[in-house]
Amino acid sequence: MAGLIVKNLSKVFELQNEIFQALKDINLVVPEKSFITVVGKSGCGKTTLLRIVAGLESKTGGHIEFTNCKEKGKKKVGIVFQEPRLMPWLTVEQNLAFSLIKCKDKSYVKDKVEDILQILGLYDFKKAYPSQISGGMAQRVSLGRTLCFDPEIILMDEPLGALDAFTRRKLQNELVDIFVKSGKTFMFVTHDVEEAIYLGQKVVVMNDGIIMQEIQIDLDYYRNTEDSKFLEYKKSILNTYKSIN
Ligand SMILES: Nc1ncnc2c1ncn2[C@@H]1O[C@H](COP(=O)(O)OP(=O)(O)O)[C@@H](O)[C@H]1O
Ligand SMILES: [Mg+2]
Repeated sequence: MAGLIVKNLSKVFELQNEIFQALKDINLVVPEKSFITVVGKSGCGKTTLLRIVAGLESKTGGHIEFTNCKEKGKKKVGIVFQEPRLMPWLTVEQNLAFSLIKCKDKSYVKDKVEDILQILGLYDFKKAYPSQISGGMAQRVSLGRTLCFDPEIILMDEPLGALDAFTRRKLQNELVDIFVKSGKTFMFVTHDVEEAIYLGQKVVVMNDGIIMQEIQIDLDYYRNTEDSKFLEYKKSILNTYKSIN
């Protein structure tokens, strides 16, 4: 599995002759088979960082290096967005199969889609259209679509932000299951401090385009948000924010 090293990354946006520095000298290591969360308030540069790592946005300076790729120089990065972005005219199983549209081996595609339907508890909904399923289901399909092409690194941009608290916790636990079983590398962005600590082996705290703090989370899955150590981590992150405001 692959990991990731970000060195001195910067990003400047130019908008109507104004320049805005969205990322300033970001240094970050995402070890292979680890689950890293990035937390920060809206506008601090989280999406920009993920989009650059995914290759969807150019960088202004710095380097991104993928480590231990299966095929040298060929990284496999998948991204899951906040909105599920499903195709409304395709069923759940067709949406999943669509991500493998270039694959000629149709029986491989069929088996892979069946696999993902099982893993994500979507089997009974495979013939449903996006308008007929809940937000939580739609987000599962969105994750499933990424899992279909078997990326080594999965980037997630606030994928659970629009869900109610109960569905959100359920999907967080499912994500932990997938992480543990798949051994893939996850980089998960959220503005929710509790979610960041619940999921991350390391939490990276961002503010105004810089990394303020990195905390190793020394707790087993599934975590108890009332645990004293959990609350200490939370306090530490909130104190970092207090110190800058
Ligand atoms: N394409 C763009 N052009 C100009 N400014 C942008 C662009 N994308 C993001 N920004 C700015 O960069 C900052 C960081 O944005 P973003 O990475 O989306 O933050 P976050 O995901 O943490 O909310 C914001 O101030 C945003 O307005
Ligand atoms: Mg964002």
